[in-house]
Amino acid sequence: MPANSGTAGRRLLFISDTHFTRERGAENTVWLNRAILNRWEAVKDRLVREIKALRPDAIIHCGDFTQFGTADDYKFGKSIMDATGIAWHAVPGNHDALAGGAAKNAMRRERGIAERDGCFCRSMAFGAAAVALLDVCAPGEGANFAADSRALDWLARLLEENRGRPVFLASHHPVSNKASVARYGTILGSDGLDGGRLASGPVRGRDFDRALGKIENAGKLKRLLERSGCTAIAFSGHWHINAFHASNGVYYRTVPSVCEYPCEAVIADFDARGARVRSAPLSSLGLREESLIAERRNAWAEGARRARDVFVPFGRA
Ligand SMILES: [Fe+2]
Ligand SMILES: [Fe+2]
Repeated sequence: MPANSGTAGRRLLFISDTHFTRERGAENTVWLNRAILNRWEAVKDRLVREIKALRPDAIIHCGDFTQFGTADDYKFGKSIMDATGIAWHAVPGNHDALAGGAAKNAMRRERGIAERDGCFCRSMAFGAAAVALLDVCAPGEGANFAADSRALDWLARLLEENRGRPVFLASHHPVSNKASVARYGTILGSDGLDGGRLASGPVRGRDFDRALGKIENAGKLKRLLERSGCTAIAFSGHWHINAFHASNGVYYRTVPSVCEYPCEAVIADFDARGARVRSAPLSSLGLREESLIAERRNAWAEGARRARDVFVPFGRA
């Protein structure tokens, strides 16, 4: 993508957690809601049309590009993204690190990132902003992941070089997240459905948080962003929900999943003055309706209205 520093408006489209696969065995997966993975072959063209209709200048994928992390899942997902004809970039998610990291390595090779170059971090100038793609999928304790020392050094340098400018950071796990599932009671469920109903009980609160995992050294990332002198908006996936909050001058936006309710993308329209960041339903996929399981009381996954459409002014107070 050509770097440019013009003041004209730009549109980035953030999508996340597509969990692309053509495997049929994924049909009964249940996360927050029923995830419709076995229908990707059927709806892939609709996703391409939806994305093209939004006319973004580029697409940023916040990870869990694939479901099983295999090279074939990656190839399948890549064919869908390429069909949009729009430049796209992805950070690896925890699912892309499955299967011995085959999907993550395929992403790395495709982008010309040699194994010896270590972390998967990349950046680009885009209109008034710098876009930073941060790999936070180095292994941590249990289900946790981490940004390794190379990723931290890389981000520190990038923020220094872009002091005073807006920086959009994309990582898979959220750097900061206030939407603890513990607040909502029953959420993540079993690993199966029986005739459309939950086959076993949900996991609650802290157990859910533990199962989902987090960035072990998120505190370091937060401090880097807070002290950077940049207007930083940190986009992430992994939680599969819409969420937005500001903390110590940094803005945090969680991008929902494409393959389960609420089946949305996030549009960021920005110029030199600021960014409007808002949710964009991908209605024609039909996955939203199919994945909505009323007994899960999952309307909260859409996010509060004030989280779904926000204007972030550039230039820090
Ligand atoms: Fe995911
Ligand atoms: Fe994830």
